[in-house]
Amino acid sequence: MRMTVIGTGYLGATHAACMAELGHEVLGVDVDEAKIEALKNGRVPFYEPGLPEVLERNLEAGRLDFTTDYERVAEFANVHFIGVGTPQQRGSYAADTRYVEAVIEDLVPKLEGNHIIFGKSTVPVGTAAALQERADELAAEAGNKASVEIAWNPEFLREGYAVKDTIEPDRIVVGVRGKDTNAEQAAREVYAQALENETPFIVTDLQTAELVKVSANAFLATKISFINAVSEVCEIVGADVTQLADAIGYDDRIGRKFLGAGLGFGGGCLPKDIRAFMARAGEVGADQALTFLREVDAINMRRRQRIVDLSREMLGSLIGKRITVLGAAFKPNSDDVRDSPALAVAGQLSLAGASVRIFDPQAMENAKKVFPTLDYATSLDDALRGAELVILATEWAEFKELDPKHAAELVAEQRIIDGRNVLPVDAWQSAGWEIRALGRSL
Ligand code: UGA
Repeated sequence: MRMTVIGTGYLGATHAACMAELGHEVLGVDVDEAKIEALKNGRVPFYEPGLPEVLERNLEAGRLDFTTDYERVAEFANVHFIGVGTPQQRGSYAADTRYVEAVIEDLVPKLEGNHIIFGKSTVPVGTAAALQERADELAAEAGNKASVEIAWNPEFLREGYAVKDTIEPDRIVVGVRGKDTNAEQAAREVYAQALENETPFIVTDLQTAELVKVSANAFLATKISFINAVSEVCEIVGADVTQLADAIGYDDRIGRKFLGAGLGFGGGCLPKDIRAFMARAGEVGADQALTFLREVDAINMRRRQRIVDLSREMLGSLIGKRITVLGAAFKPNSDDVRDSPALAVAGQLSLAGASVRIFDPQAMENAKKVFPTLDYATSLDDALRGAELVILATEWAEFKELDPKHAAELVAEQRIIDGRNVLPVDAWQSAGWEIRALGRSL
């Protein structure tokens, strides 16, 4: 099948490359010339394991190309995917949908014939219907050369597993307008391989599809904040949140996944999506329905403060203390620092007067753009040298596997906070370390 993917950020670039990997002919488009130049030359402008290989293979096979020219998009295919960003609006919780709207404004007047536009971006409920209305107006203004159907096909990929999640999704959701739809059949062709593998395929209305996405992310955020709230109680009464999570996780109605207590969630999705969901619920009149998400957000933010307080407890005062923060990305296997708990903690410690040094295997360049004044180490050993306190803030494998005896030789004082509950506590204690963790009294 021929298709275009509009927006080549995290979502769009991955979708374009993976659709080509499935055998489709794909044209990716973006207004950012530097991004398009990189992708055309086989370079992925962010860190995502496995994606560079998929990109290169499909560029070489001639199934994948990138452009900044919208005219080509209109001619290239009759099926289009929108993967542009919907960031949080400045000064508000709501999502900013202007980039999605701009795609419709630019593209629709150029179209001829029958086209289907699948939105993949995370949008407030009601957006797709509004875009359909606008698309119909634009098509009419352009002389009715085209008929355009808007459908919504939310994306559930996780950073770090984006290729696998796109090629072998755990479910496919397609929201379509009423009955006169061609989108379902087109989606069946796009995702033929996944359907052959009996991947659940849910065809629904536009608003349900939009809500599925934000509900999934809100549920995940709530699960993390639930265990982190319990963590606060554990800290006071001397219980162990990791054993508690194991114990409740054996109940398969609950499940152990996303009960990882620690520094909490960050990234470009969970934080902004729960805020946008709350804002939208208020706008549509369900004022009280999602106010609990405000608490989910607050619990999450309190974990960052807890690490700063714990650091002060361990060091007495933070002023002038040399603190090493291991991790800058919002989670391992990513170079994404958007709303990163690790970086927020580093920033707060620095503001409180500590001398903060950071190391991350992939996210250093992005972190420097956000916090240029912090001290960035050149290696893990370099980061540890002379530290009076080490904080594990992002659970990269090389941090989890750090040898406590080796680390002891580098630091000035053997103190560590396990902000993600991933270190083998006994090994660290027997190597002479004072170790503290969130939700456990050690
Ligand atoms: C999330 C969703 O998991 C995807 O399904 C969704 O497609 C994506 O957002 C999106 O909307 O695009 P992602 O942001 O890549 O994916 O990250 P997650 O793996 O969900 O992790 C989010 C945050 O929660 C990370 O900061 C992670 O450290 C934290 N987390 C996760 C915990 O604190 N505890 C856990 O047990 C699990």
